Amino acid sequence: MNISMIGTGYVGLVSGVCFAEFGFQVSCVDLNAGLIARLSAGEATIFEPGLDELMTRNIRDGRLSFTTDLAASVAGADVIFIAVGTPSRRGDGEADLQYIEAAADAVAAAMKPGAVIVIKSTVVVGTNARIRDRIRAARPGVEFSMVSNPEFLREGSAIEDFMRPDRVVVGVEDTRGREAMRRVYRPLYLRETPMVMTTLENAEIIKYAANAFLAMKVTFINQVADLCEKAGGNVQEVAHAIGMDKRIGAKFLHAGPGFGGSCFPKDTRAFAATGRRFDAPQTLIEEVVAVNETRKQAMAARIIEAARQSDAASVAVLGVAFKPNTDDIREAPAIDIIAAIQKAGLTVRAHDPEAMVTARAALPGVVWCNSAYEAAEGAGVTALLTEWNAYRALDLKKIAGLMTGNVLIDLRNVYKAEDIEGTGLDYRSVGNSS
Ligand code: NAD
Ligand code: UGA
Repeated sequence: MNISMIGTGYVGLVSGVCFAEFGFQVSCVDLNAGLIARLSAGEATIFEPGLDELMTRNIRDGRLSFTTDLAASVAGADVIFIAVGTPSRRGDGEADLQYIEAAADAVAAAMKPGAVIVIKSTVVVGTNARIRDRIRAARPGVEFSMVSNPEFLREGSAIEDFMRPDRVVVGVEDTRGREAMRRVYRPLYLRETPMVMTTLENAEIIKYAANAFLAMKVTFINQVADLCEKAGGNVQEVAHAIGMDKRIGAKFLHAGPGFGGSCFPKDTRAFAATGRRFDAPQTLIEEVVAVNETRKQAMAARIIEAARQSDAASVAVLGVAFKPNTDDIREAPAIDIIAAIQKAGLTVRAHDPEAMVTARAALPGVVWCNSAYEAAEGAGVTALLTEWNAYRALDLKKIAGLMTGNVLIDLRNVYKAEDIEGTGLDYRSVGNSS
């Protein structure tokens, strides 16, 4: 079976590499010639644990190739995955489907009869049916199947998530589409991964509802953290105990600076916009979007206030990626927080183990440092924004000695009070009154 994967970003590249690892012949396509040149040379263009090794092996064994020639890739494919971006549209928060439409038009022109076209990108309800009709109109009389196959992988653990998902969701309309999906996911099926076969519309709504629910869970615990701080509680103890109830579950209950990333922010906005468009208001999610925006500013204000109190001219920021184990900074809380700190007239000295290359252009004026220690030099306040493992065992005494002030604001609750004893730091975590 030949697979064409259109779009080689986080989802397309990881999916393409993993399908090749399953033994399929995979041709990955991207418009970006620079990206394709690097990938063809065996260079992973994103930081994702385990990706390099799988890429190298599958290129070597001739199962994985990269091209800018979409028509050739699609013409030879039995199954065509579309994994291009669906960013927020400016103004109304709706998902911008222009990349999906352009990719679908190119696929329509080149596909062979009987092709199975799978949208893997996150698309709002109704999109698969609309794209199916668009392709049908472009190639009247040519048979093909439309499939919706949303992806649930997380950055930073993308390979593991793709290989061992909780479930695979497939929206199908016909037997050919169903059988093709059973074949491409057979290796997971053999591992007893549940496969949810449903309609196109359900598959689309499932993806948004899942992300919206998880974003809501994070936002909920962030607000509980505020209450804990003011009323004498500890959010970690609260989260731990409520998470023991299986109906609630322990995951996504870590309080922090607000959710970020390439998906939760845009997908919550799009879900809310879809609700408005269908006159089925998603008021909970509207509120989640608003609360999350406010939270990032509140976290910035906390850092600025501490800097003012310690008469500091600079703040050290540890971590700019939206989460650990990725170099992705799209809608990272650090972006808004750093901008607010700079606006307050303070210098930001920042470090991140992997994201500094991508962050440079997005964050002008930041002094980029080679280590957490270099960032702390001369800073009045050190703020830990991303819970990279490299920040879990810092020599805090050394950090305190390098700073002019002594405040450590740990927005990820990496440290415990006992870690701070004897360091001379004034430690402030999230959701902890003591
Ligand atoms: P991305 O922006 O990293 O990559 C998209 C790629 O598609 C780019 O390299 C771009 O050049 C390419 N592209 C755009 N139009 C094209 C065309 N017509 N032909 C060929 N290539 C084209 O995007 P991503 O983060 O991989 O996300 C892709 C989709 O998957 C989105 O809908 C997203 O919501 C969804 N998703 C992302 C994640 C994640 O962790 N990033 C997880 C699950 C789902
Ligand atoms: C998320 C979902 O977890 C994936 O299932 C989904 O496929 C993906 O979005 C997508 O659709 O793109 P991802 O954005 O990679 O994956 O990362 P998450 O681990 O979900 O974290 C998202 C944000 O929430 C991060 O900023 C993270 O720091 C924050 N978060 C998460 C918390 O603040 N607390 C938590 O307990 C969990």
